[in-house]
Amino acid sequence: MSTSQQPRSESGDTTAGGSGTTAGATSEPAAGPGYSGAAAAETAPAAAGEDQTGGEQAEEVKLGPTGRPLREIPEPPELHTHGPATVLAMCNQKGGVGKTTSTINLGAALAEYGRRVLLVDFDPQGALSVGLGVQPHELEQSVYNVIMERSLPVDSVIRNTKLEGIDLLPSNIDLSAAEVQLVAEVGREHTLLRVLHPVMKQYDYVLVDCQPSLGLLTVNALTASDGVIIPLECEFFSLRGVALLIDTIDKVRERLNPKLDITGILATMFDPRTLHSKEVMARVVEAFGDTVFDTVINRTVRFPETTVAGEPITKWAPRSAGAAAYRQLAREVIGR
Ligand SMILES: Nc1ncnc2c1ncn2[C@@H]1O[C@H](COP(=O)(O)OP(=O)(O)OP(=O)(O)O)[C@@H](O)[C@H]1O
Ligand SMILES: [Mg+2]
Repeated sequence: MSTSQQPRSESGDTTAGGSGTTAGATSEPAAGPGYSGAAAAETAPAAAGEDQTGGEQAEEVKLGPTGRPLREIPEPPELHTHGPATVLAMCNQKGGVGKTTSTINLGAALAEYGRRVLLVDFDPQGALSVGLGVQPHELEQSVYNVIMERSLPVDSVIRNTKLEGIDLLPSNIDLSAAEVQLVAEVGREHTLLRVLHPVMKQYDYVLVDCQPSLGLLTVNALTASDGVIIPLECEFFSLRGVALLIDTIDKVRERLNPKLDITGILATMFDPRTLHSKEVMARVVEAFGDTVFDTVINRTVRFPETTVAGEPITKWAPRSAGAAAYRQLAREVIGR
């Protein structure tokens, strides 16, 4: 999908104007550009509605949490052959926004749809590995070794997980040395791309969980990727730094990887009960338009629980709203 890469300027090109492709653009009548998404989140703001609390009559167009009309996202087609993989980097230099949680759960949901998935832990903290029940300090070899030793085949370090269809390239604290050591390498930005190349045909999706920084490891992830998913927490400061992230993505596209695209912006930790969350959401949609996924991940204690359990939410609480949300995200990702 070719989305617009730039955050749309607040005054100029806004959501409804730029893109006629999605259902979202067709019916935003009364709201107009820069609608107050806060009010818009549950029911269409019926222009003439005298009594705003009476939701029943105004329910012709049901709006999703993004303030856009809800749409059905079709079941993805069954796959009979696999690969070559689409590589997606989960990236935001802000910490704690849901990169790792989204990597695990999107990966698990894609696997439920029959996609073969490789999850790459590209953070020395190893949270993705932990989230899949792997103890980073017990690893003999990790992504660090394949990055630094050209002769070490990547499939000797990739491991199966308890989850069908999901493999893991794990990481641990060793990877923190790579940032410094890679600087002296020729083609240092292409190291991850080179490492992944031999296994691309075995997978449908490779998801790279980036660390919260825009350093050389993240640039490696972007250079190896077809798309970027940017998780954004629905909090006041979440938009700070996104311009810098998009600038980095633009530079990588210009200089290192022309195919790099922003697959989507994923709003996470949304709290439908607070006006604040809704206001942040409205600003995000205003700034990024259709690049924002329809799927929104609510804030729920279920996610921290899954980390302790070492399982994705689709396994830990398969009928939960969180599991449903990541399945919907998987359908959106497959469709984009
Ligand atoms: N939707 C959610 N609701 C509530 N808690 C969540 C949600 N998503 C993630 N969390 C929790 O928030 C914390 C940070 O999430 P996560 O580790 O996925 O973020 P991250 O962006 O990968 O962080 P880092 O930048 O440190 O790598 C974790 O404890 C996680 O369990
Ligand atoms: Mg993380």
